[in-house]
Amino acid sequence: MSRDPLRSDALWRLVRRMAPQLRPHRRRLVLGGLALIGVAASEVARPWPLKVVFDGILMPRPDTDPVTGWMTATFGTGDGLLAATAFAILAIALVGGAAGFAQAYLIASVGQKVVAQIRLDLYRHVQRLSHSFHDTASSGDIIARLTGDVRMMRDLLIDAVVFFAARVLVIGATVGVMAWMDWRLTLSALAILPALWLVTRHFGGRIRGAARRQRRKEGKIAVVMTEGISSIDVVKGFAREAYEESRFAKQNNSSAEAGVVTTRLAANMDRVTQVILALGTALVLWYGVVRVRSGAISPGDLLVFTAYLSTLYKPVRKMAAMTARVAKATASGERLLEIFDLSPEVAERPGAVDAGLLAGRVGFANVTFAYPGSPPVLRNAYLNLNPGEIVAIVGTSGIGKSSATRLIMRFYDPQEGSVRIDGHDIREFTLDTLRGNISVVLQDSVLFGTTVRDSIAYGRLDATEDEIVAAAREAEADGFIRLLPEGYDTVLGERGETLSGGQRQRITIARAVLRDAPILILDEPLTGLDPATARSLLGGLRRAAAGRTTFLIAHDALTLSLASRVVRIEDGQFVEYPRNSRILSA
Ligand SMILES: Nc1ncnc2c1ncn2[C@@H]1O[C@H](COP(=O)(O)OP(=O)(O)OP(=O)(O)O)[C@@H](O)[C@H]1O
Ligand SMILES: [Mg+2]
Repeated sequence: MSRDPLRSDALWRLVRRMAPQLRPHRRRLVLGGLALIGVAASEVARPWPLKVVFDGILMPRPDTDPVTGWMTATFGTGDGLLAATAFAILAIALVGGAAGFAQAYLIASVGQKVVAQIRLDLYRHVQRLSHSFHDTASSGDIIARLTGDVRMMRDLLIDAVVFFAARVLVIGATVGVMAWMDWRLTLSALAILPALWLVTRHFGGRIRGAARRQRRKEGKIAVVMTEGISSIDVVKGFAREAYEESRFAKQNNSSAEAGVVTTRLAANMDRVTQVILALGTALVLWYGVVRVRSGAISPGDLLVFTAYLSTLYKPVRKMAAMTARVAKATASGERLLEIFDLSPEVAERPGAVDAGLLAGRVGFANVTFAYPGSPPVLRNAYLNLNPGEIVAIVGTSGIGKSSATRLIMRFYDPQEGSVRIDGHDIREFTLDTLRGNISVVLQDSVLFGTTVRDSIAYGRLDATEDEIVAAAREAEADGFIRLLPEGYDTVLGERGETLSGGQRQRITIARAVLRDAPILILDEPLTGLDPATARSLLGGLRRAAAGRTTFLIAHDALTLSLASRVVRIEDGQFVEYPRNSRILSA
């Protein structure tokens, strides 16, 4: 479409992007292609028995076509020929049916596999995109793309591409045979093509626009839905069920409206196409009778010709209808490309090396960091930590404490300066091995809906049972875990909400302990817990931090008592704080 030139090549870009995925399935595709040729051949052969009956039995002619000539020579012009043609009709149907089945099965199975691969690629890509993407992306929208849009792509790949190839073959072969019979009459049958092309172009663009709107609306539905369900506590706590419902209903309705628009456009296109095809048929019939009267062709020829016309026009009409589906699938494909086209901002350098096991000497050297479009959080900041040192990071809310720890994990890269571990810029390391040296406990710890054992083992997937239990003991979690209905095999609710806040936190501490990394980040690990619970977790935290370079972010004196050193963030700088001063007065 000329309205948005950027999008007009979307279909082509999609095909190019997906084509390499087809390579492993070459054998099936070739077989499927052969089956396609079988389908086209049976389509072309289908009207011929009729002509043989007409020109050979009913109105015998001496100067007939080679096929009829051969048939009459072999089977005579009586019942033998009739039986032979009847058999031919059956044989053509059988061959065509078998080829059609083989083609549909082979190509659909390839399509399914390719789509599964695309979905995997997309999921992998989304997982690897940087925080700058995930900060603003909505999980509902991503899920909608991973499910609905990928499904639409399957339509594009299986239905559109395959059927397109099949139809082009059938149309090509039919036109060839028609032209061989009478090229003048063929031209009259093709006279309507320019009009069809215009119609397809006109409606195709509009349908794609409407489909794009619909998919976007469906993405919004998924957003509202995931928000409403994942925050069910807040929804119910504020008694906002009706409000959420109306938010959902609004998106739901507008998606339905957009859906009606695409359907209406598609139906309209079909209507106009049918009229044009009827015009074509009328034209062929009129001109064909003129040709028969002048003796240029036989009545049997005209009969076969009109049969071919329906062989020709049926796929043409289907192809026009297919434009609607292709348009919809293209709209979905664009949504997939939008994500595929993003590249992680925090990327590994080409020559990145394995970090190995680091000692844990962490440094900020002249670090300046700002979130996109915001003033800097850190400005030419310096900080040096010795291995095993426990440093409390304090400062007012929103000053940049959590952000500083995110730089160590390389969730973001600083705009200036570098974060260094053991004297190396952390960008020299591969992301996995860098993060393998870091363990975290956050305030709102996330657990997954798996067993307690697996939740702890998330820190180190190859941990043994003994190591898991030892880590749970260190975190003082073993006691309550054994009292759970199934002990370590108890399945937690999604996000771990079947546990109390303190219990959840003990499991995350155990997870961090099990990881056994030289660097530990504790971001407000005890905030939100009552003083008694917090105090009971202190021992676990102290053991977790022992011997590790620990960043401890906290506001309360209790947690801060774990630290051997206090650093305050002020005006984008790390400011050393004398021990024993009243840090909490800030
Ligand atoms: N993903 C983000 N994108 C843009 N700005 C952000 C993002 N995360 C945090 N900020 C902003 O950066 C600043 C520092 O945030 P940060 O979370 O580091 O503060 P904090 O010191 O940890 O605060 P708190 O004690 O409340 O946890 C804040 O002004 C915040 O609004
Ligand atoms: Mg914070």
